[in-house]
Amino acid sequence: MIRQLPRVVPEAPDKPMRGSEDHPMRKVTQQVAFDPGGWTGERRGKVESLFNELAPEWHTRDHPYRTQPLVDAFERGGDVAGGMCLELGSGTGIATPWLAERFAHVLSVDLSAEMLKLAPAGDGTRMRADASRLPLRDASIDTAVLINMFLFPIEIARVIAPAGALVWVNTSGADTPIHLPADEVDAALPGEWTGVASEAGWGTWAVLRRA
Ligand SMILES: C[S@@+](CC[C@H](N)C(=O)[O-])C[C@H]1O[C@@H](n2cnc3c(N)ncnc32)[C@H](O)[C@@H]1O
Repeated sequence: MIRQLPRVVPEAPDKPMRGSEDHPMRKVTQQVAFDPGGWTGERRGKVESLFNELAPEWHTRDHPYRTQPLVDAFERGGDVAGGMCLELGSGTGIATPWLAERFAHVLSVDLSAEMLKLAPAGDGTRMRADASRLPLRDASIDTAVLINMFLFPIEIARVIAPAGALVWVNTSGADTPIHLPADEVDAALPGEWTGVASEAGWGTWAVLRRA
């Protein structure tokens, strides 16, 4: 069950409008979240190639407004900092330095080698892996941060510690190509979860914990 908090960070101008309900990435996001067979080898290959191609220009998507939902999630989502952070779908590491200031360890994982190559060194450990099959022990993660990333519900629930949290951020809210509303994140996760969600600037966020 997700409690929607009122917006405190105002809407921001010039929001990027890259996604829509019929965006191909939106369909993949839905299928991966709700159908364990939705992540096929062919799909994985296409997603990997796409993000390898996008990597050289990915830094152009950075913007001060982009961080607002992440900051708001940490301020109002309960106690999420400290310990071991898994940044899943970390891309070129736009958010990694910010996370590295708040956690003892940040493990930044991405499928795309080209994205990882461009990520800053020294702010965390970078690892190339597929989020559908993480080479991590059960319950080894205190906080998983997913920014515009697919949700692999069974795997994310497996690696998050019993008292851990999932921070879900869509930097352009429902206009983000890889987007799920907070109640769908909750519905997709195995077991009972609880949390809070809100809007901030361009984006939306949710912080979920086991009920
Ligand atoms: C939309 S980008 C977001 C990148 C970064 N979080 C940001 O906000 O700038 C999605 C990222 O997830 C990665 N990704 C997609 N599927 C993945 C998977 N199965 N395992 C790990 N990373 C994946 C892509 O390579 C890409 O870097």
